[in-house]
Formats: sequence, structure tokens, C-alpha cells
Amino acid sequence: MSASAGDERPPSHLFYQSRQRRPLIDRAEGVYLWDTDGRRYLDGSSGAMVSNIGHSNPRVLEAMQAQMARATFAYRLHFENEPAERLAARTAAAMPLGMDRVFFVSGGSEAVESCLKLARQYAVATGQASRYKVVSRFPSYHGATLGALAVTGYAPMSAPFSPMMHEMPKIPAPTCYLDRDGLDMHQRGLRYADMLESEILRQGPETVLAFIMEPVGGAATGALVAPDSYYARIREICERYGVLLIHDEVMSGAGRTGRFLAGEHWDVIPDLIALSKGFAAGYAPLGAMVAPGWMVEPVLDTGGFIHGYTYAGNPLACAAGLAVLDEIESRDLVGNAARMGERLRARLDGLAERFPMIGDVRGKGLLQAVELVADRETMAVLPPERMAAARLVELAYERGLIIYWRRTRGGYSGDHVLVCPPLIVDESHIEEIAATLGDALAALEAELAAAR
Ligand SMILES: Cc1ncc(COP(=O)(O)O)c(C=O)c1O
Repeated sequence: MSASAGDERPPSHLFYQSRQRRPLIDRAEGVYLWDTDGRRYLDGSSGAMVSNIGHSNPRVLEAMQAQMARATFAYRLHFENEPAERLAARTAAAMPLGMDRVFFVSGGSEAVESCLKLARQYAVATGQASRYKVVSRFPSYHGATLGALAVTGYAPMSAPFSPMMHEMPKIPAPTCYLDRDGLDMHQRGLRYADMLESEILRQGPETVLAFIMEPVGGAATGALVAPDSYYARIREICERYGVLLIHDEVMSGAGRTGRFLAGEHWDVIPDLIALSKGFAAGYAPLGAMVAPGWMVEPVLDTGGFIHGYTYAGNPLACAAGLAVLDEIESRDLVGNAARMGERLRARLDGLAERFPMIGDVRGKGLLQAVELVADRETMAVLPPERMAAARLVELAYERGLIIYWRRTRGGYSGDHVLVCPPLIVDESHIEEIAATLGDALAALEAELAAAR
């Protein structure tokens, strides 16, 4: 762990996952953050892939201040509010045709929970009450609440809670880059998609409600992108068995991959979409479930959607969301994510040429990841106890670059870091990220060699 300014501070009453302390944030602007000791950090992961439009955007702050001066809260059972109405309309306009009903929440886990519950209520409302199983992928991440965790495929996060929840069926995520099977990528894509059909048949199609997937993987897989053939086949299989397709775009949505939705890269229209993170880009806790009218109407007709959160459609959060959407659209940040994503990818590929421990570079747009391995040929993992990716994050942090790590192979082994700067980055930021990451990788390489 980094020797941070926090080491001299008194114990905190606050706790999260661990005892790790970090410096105090002083201020943030654009792609940089400063701690109270004046050290500057380049936000190379947009926090947790959140701060898509950068920090302290003056137009967003102004819009929030204007809303604050009017009303910060008006409960949705007592009042409608204009920012929520306008944001719902603008969100619907950014979605594929027919996906035009919007339900606001305060974060990604809530967005996923909402998708699971609306799917279930739709089945009940339309005479398909036997359907309740939600198939998902392993590895995957869909959230920390028990419903979202039940469809999450990341062993250490769910293991302690498994007796408390109804764990859902999992199929392997399409980790084609690990396969040494003589198939080409097209065939591998179909092979992994067909595992969904086998699982639906194994479970009994009449019991299967939905399939949830991240169109471009997030933290659990390290920006996993399936072969093109995968996406259309998955859509086809869901259609064939009346299984609803849920795209979890909590991380990949709002422009991060170079399209507003990652699913657009393959022209897939899912039945439900979960959004959060970049949707309000850290200016307010906000997320959304987007659904088609044909799913919402039968539920509203049969007693209503039995679900909701106190802060849903909060006017201040929605005013922030609207201003963020204005920034994304008026500055073509989606296009910038595509352009800068290519440059970032080229730099990460360059680092892979320099450092043999980089086994794979993958992703789309500004959702990129680097996987570290012991052997590039076999893709054998590094000794898990070395915590190589976590260590790389610390070495980068000490050098003023923030990146994000997770375990690649389901949670207990495998190392990757996500490199996902805000969508406002320019060429000079990409060069700074590549240079600092290169220094951190060199330091990690030396440490691993010394430990051998
Ligand atoms: C794909 C995906 N879904 C859901 C979530 C959960 O979001 P939150 O942490 O806002 O509840 C995350 C968070 O990382 C995510 O990446």
C-alpha cells in the first residue's frame, strides 16, 4: 500500500473495504485531481469509470446551482419535476428505437436490480410466472446488492453471501483470447454464445426469465470484447426462447466505448438497459433503467411496478444528468472517446511490445485494459500472492497516475488494470498516461524479478 499522507492522521470513524488510507482530496479540474499536499494526479480511470466529462465542469456546476436555488428534493409521489421529465426524454432519444421508457435510480446496482424486477413483473403480468432464472456470465460484475450480486460472477464478492441469496445460473464469459483450440475468433464467438442455449435448455426454457451481460466487459473481465459473431447469436437465442436480454451498460454506456451505448457497435437492441456511472459522470448519484413500452405497459396495467427508491428522479441529480448529456452531445465526447481510444490503444500496444508480462491489451474506445501474465504464450497467471495488478496501481499512484485493478480469472487470480480516462482527454494526456504507466510497469518488472 502506498505510504500516503494519511499515515499520520488519527484513526478514521469511516470505513469501507479495508484499512487502506488515501490522501485527502483538495480539488479536481478536467482530468486532474490534487490532494491537500498539492500533489497532482491524472485521473486515468475516471475514478471507477465514472468521471466521463472530467471534473468541475463549470456548465454542469452552474446548472446544478440553478436547480439547487429552486428545489433539491420533491418526492415523486407528491410532485413531478422538470429536470426528470426532460432527462427521461433526452435519454430515450439517445436509445435505440422503442427503448423509450426511463426509470431513474441512484446508482448501478439499483439500475440492475430494477431491470431484474421489471423483467420478473413483466413475466408475471403476461402469464409467464414460471420464468424467474436470470442467466449471467462468469466472470462478470453487476453490483453489490443481493439481487445484483446473485447475477455477478466474481467469486470473492459473492462467496460469503451465497447462503443468503438465490444464486443464478452462469455461463462462461467469452474469454476467447485464452483459448488454444484451433478455432478462429468467429467460431469461438458462436461457441460461447451457444453455451447460453445449452444453459437455457438445461434449466428448462420455461423457467428462464432473462440473460444479463456487459456488452463490453468492465472490472471483472478487464474490458472483455467478444468476437462480432457472439452478439447477434446471443440476441437470436434469447428471441428463440422468449428470454429477455439485459445489457448492463453501467460502465460501458454514456459514450465510454466510442458509441453512446456499447451495444451499438454490434447493432444489438436489448430488451432492458442499465445505465449509471458516466450518465451523471460523478456530479450526482444517478442511474437509469431503460425499457420498451411493451414491457412497461402490462406491468402498469396489472397493479403497477412494485419497486422504487426514495431518491428516484431527484431534481438535482437529474439537472446534473441533463447538463452532463449536454456536454457529451455538444462537445462530441463520444467521437473523442473513439478517436482518443485508438491512440490510447496504440500506446498500450506499444507498452506490450516493451513488457513481456503484458499478455493482452483489449477494450473499445476509452474502456481499455491490460492483462498481466507470467507467460504470454500460455497466458498463465502471475503468482496470485504477488498481487501484481494491485501493485501496479500503487506504483502508478506514486507517480501521479490513477488506474484501476481487478482479478481477471473470476476473482482469486489473474491480474489486469483498466485504463479509462475521462472522455475529454487529448493527445497530450494520452502521452502522459502512457509514459507514467511505462515507468510504473518498469518498476513492477524490477520488483517481480527481484522476488524470483
Ligand atoms: C457493469 C456494472 N454494473 C453494475 C455496477 C454497480 O454499480 P454501483 O457500484 O454504482 O452500484 C458496476 C460498478 O462497477 C458495473 O461496472
